[in-house]
Amino acid sequence: MNHEHPRLIAVVSPKGGVGKTTVTANLALKLAASGQSVLVIDLDPQNALRLHLQLPFAEVGGHAVQTLNDEPWSAALCVSPCGVTVLPFGQLDDDAVDRFERRCQDQPAWLAQGLASLKLQPRTWVVIDTPPGSALQVRQLLPQVNALLCVLLPEVASLVTVATMERWLQTYCLGQPDFMLGAYLINAVSDADALETDVIEALKARVGPRLAPCTIRRSHVLRESFASAQPVSEYAPADPVNDDYRVLADWLVAHT
Ligand SMILES: Nc1ncnc2c1ncn2[C@@H]1O[C@H](COP(=O)(O)OP(=O)(O)O)[C@@H](O)[C@H]1O
Ligand SMILES: [Mg+2]
Repeated sequence: MNHEHPRLIAVVSPKGGVGKTTVTANLALKLAASGQSVLVIDLDPQNALRLHLQLPFAEVGGHAVQTLNDEPWSAALCVSPCGVTVLPFGQLDDDAVDRFERRCQDQPAWLAQGLASLKLQPRTWVVIDTPPGSALQVRQLLPQVNALLCVLLPEVASLVTVATMERWLQTYCLGQPDFMLGAYLINAVSDADALETDVIEALKARVGPRLAPCTIRRSHVLRESFASAQPVSEYAPADPVNDDYRVLADWLVAHT
């Protein structure tokens, strides 16, 4: 779909360890591979997204460091060897994270101002990784995004996650004029697990058309590729999980 403004997609989950960072990195790479201009932003103080995109471990800069130092975000942009532009969170110690959070509280426009300062081109996709739960930064981000992708595991606990997520959608997103898509993505699905199939059916009944028509399969190759500091598209280009991320990227492009 043509669009005159950058498209902001947040990858979120009330729960940690569900695959948000892995989905963010691979979605961004597939969007870039299909010819889109892509910026990936890490809002999680764990600052791990950069490691999925081949930035050096010693690279400690990021937007939170810039924000605390009153320096421009643009100076922290990194071009990943994988072909996407990355704005890491930056490496902060615990005290600095506390100071950053106080800054977010005192200056609620920090995120909108930071994004505006990047002067993003129309047609740029901005894929944003987030910390788990309803951190202040997540609540400040949600009203600004065009699309929200909530990552769920195919387990019973996800029915609880969905209840929280529906509340976030109602509170922060659905009333916003530029909000286009709120979707659930089920990650790490195994081929043959009857309980998972039942859970997926229950999730479908609960969220209906908000459930993305594609899922991401469970793949040990993802862990291996991360361990070898390569995206899975380079480490194992023939692994079928690559097709899952491509279908997801194509679906998002068609619906936002
Ligand atoms: N589709 C998948 N199949 C198997 N393992 C996965 C899959 N997606 C993510 N993982 C693994 O799950 C763990 C958590 O993923 P991560 O992306 O860091 O989650 P989050 O950002 O939500 O905390 C990592 O070890 C990652 O390799
Ligand atoms: Mg993460």
